[in-house]
Amino acid sequence: MIASIHFEDDQKTIKVPINQSLIQICDEYPNSILFSCRNGVCGTCLIEVMSGMENLSPVMEEERILLDILAPENPHIRLACQCVVKDDVCIRVAS
Ligand code: FES
Repeated sequence: MIASIHFEDDQKTIKVPINQSLIQICDEYPNSILFSCRNGVCGTCLIEVMSGMENLSPVMEEERILLDILAPENPHIRLACQCVVKDDVCIRVAS
């Protein structure tokens, strides 16, 4: 199966096989999302999921802890380095 990912900042849509990590996808298709630790620790890769939150892998405990610190009031925020794409999503860099 194929998923469509729309990068709002870049106005770019790509199609990728499902169950790929977003970090792998971003390495293959450069875009505005920046990474540093690539391990869910630094918060550099914060993204806002405009649509398709249900199509990303669930938030695990360690990601939840960091999200609660960095964006406690926003349920649409994820760490891009912790997401696996399951179906269509639209994302942008969280500011
Ligand atoms: S790159 Fe550090 S949390 Fe994602």
